Amino acid sequence: MQNMQPDDLLNRRKFLSGSAKLLVMLSSFSALPCACTNKKKEEGRLDGLVIDQGKLVFDLTESRYRALNTIGAGLKIEITRQEKPLIITRVSETRVAAFSSECTHAGYEILLPEHGILACASGHGGTFDLEGRVLTGPPISNLQSYPSQLTGNRVYVAYPLN
Ligand code: FES
Repeated sequence: MQNMQPDDLLNRRKFLSGSAKLLVMLSSFSALPCACTNKKKEEGRLDGLVIDQGKLVFDLTESRYRALNTIGAGLKIEITRQEKPLIITRVSETRVAAFSSECTHAGYEILLPEHGILACASGHGGTFDLEGRVLTGPPISNLQSYPSQLTGNRVYVAYPLN
């Protein structure tokens, strides 16, 4: 730099300043929400799951979801690889429940129901009912639940897809 002419130094500064501006612009573009991505999440499919009006839809006539026709049974649904699966249970003739399979004690995964009770895989002794409410500690909070509805042969779950 000591042997550089003043004009060279000026050009170098202009170049570096321009590069920095370009970098800021590029990082801003990646933070902008993509309308096309949001549209896909309103309707269509995600990881093989059907989405309608922003809700996950499970058709109980499909063999992979048939377990939910039995009261007391449940299913685990993989949404993304980063999260623990969603659990859906059949609570009664007319009701289902949907909640996270991440235990509220220390984050271990919750197992599918047996005899109407969901146990935590940790072996700590935590159990939950078919709607994800704590039955026995150590957890003190219910499982994170999501609004769900059974309409005919279809289950709708308002799971946050973003
Ligand atoms: S992590 Fe579930 S009971 Fe401890």
